[in-house]
Amino acid sequence: MTPPPGPRYQSRPSPNAHLIGQAGGRSQLSTPCLILDIDAMERNVARMAAHCAGLGVTLRPHGKAHKCVEIARRQIAGGAVGLCVVNIGEAEVFAAAGIPGILITSPLSTEAKMRRFVRLAAGAEVATVVDNPDGAKALAEMARADGVRLPIMLDLDLGRARTGVTEIADAIDLGKFLASDPAFDLRGMQAYAGHLSHEPDHAARRSGAVFAAAKIRDVVDGLAAEGVEIKTVSGGSTGTCFMEPQAGGITEAQFGSYVFMDAEYDEIPLTEDDDRPFEPSLFVAVSVDSRSLLNQATADGGYKHFLGKHAAPQIVRGLADGTVAAYALWSDEHGRIDIETGGGELAPGRILECWVPHCDPTLNLYDHLHVVRGDDLIDIWSIDARGVY
Ligand SMILES: Cc1ncc(COP(=O)(O)O)c(C=O)c1O
Repeated sequence: MTPPPGPRYQSRPSPNAHLIGQAGGRSQLSTPCLILDIDAMERNVARMAAHCAGLGVTLRPHGKAHKCVEIARRQIAGGAVGLCVVNIGEAEVFAAAGIPGILITSPLSTEAKMRRFVRLAAGAEVATVVDNPDGAKALAEMARADGVRLPIMLDLDLGRARTGVTEIADAIDLGKFLASDPAFDLRGMQAYAGHLSHEPDHAARRSGAVFAAAKIRDVVDGLAAEGVEIKTVSGGSTGTCFMEPQAGGITEAQFGSYVFMDAEYDEIPLTEDDDRPFEPSLFVAVSVDSRSLLNQATADGGYKHFLGKHAAPQIVRGLADGTVAAYALWSDEHGRIDIETGGGELAPGRILECWVPHCDPTLNLYDHLHVVRGDDLIDIWSIDARGVY
């Protein structure tokens, strides 16, 4: 029997549920677990919405950063026109939760994924990007067979060479084809400059954004000359949110990480005067498990709870005044706390919070977001699209 459509992923209840609403619940959590500072996140959501509105670009934030229906709802309530997702599994989860205006930002390559998209598009507001003529033809045939018209966007590569058509002439040819086939409703173009997002040099990032906008305009003008109007160009990252909209290429922003502002992004000056417009809101709480040495303690967060390829987590809460200590990923399940000064408080049971080095893949490691305000746990949200594909 075919399973009914709907969310594929049901998270198990959090063992911390009993702490919701209890005073001081934040410091009694079973760890390792993810913490979301709701007020910081809400300010980030509001600031980005106001920033985009001020620049006259629509905001379709990337849901791959959070994978959480509750956060998507808040972004939409704040003015976002919909949500970007990275694959068909994420689209299914968010569509089942009633999130409108979903855009899948990677091309669908296999027959199975295309069939799932055609099925989903028959009942939900969902579009996908397309970057090759053979894939487009296969998708069009399926759509015709099912009597569905598919919302799609032409995918243009701006230099990252991950997805998207590279050559301007090829992009114009594919755009003409997509506009001419009645199986498709061509909604515009995706142009994502992923190679710029974490470029540390502000001036290089800015000139990259100007260069990217020029390529976008060449394709838009080339298609206009062929009678194909591209009204929406969707792209951009948190790293270029003060550059790409101003450069005049994109009309719709796909920014994602700004909701959490992870430690890697904090190292990149987003604005010329580096005034940190977004605040860290996502942390991993760990507990001291063991302490047998004066200058070292063992905590319960290791490679399974952070990601080894990124910088070491920074301890930002739970150390006493005067303690200087650093966190190192040590083994699959454990971290090492190297104590330079102080550290008397670092006895078994002590809870510490670490700033997440890189948000997207960290979210994918957990079932729940523990939503805190001050010292209290006020809610627990499911990371609904964790691990879907
Ligand atoms: C296609 C696409 N759009 C938008 C984003 C959002 O970027 P960020 O999370 O850096 O804001 C990403 C992130 O990798 C992406 O792959």
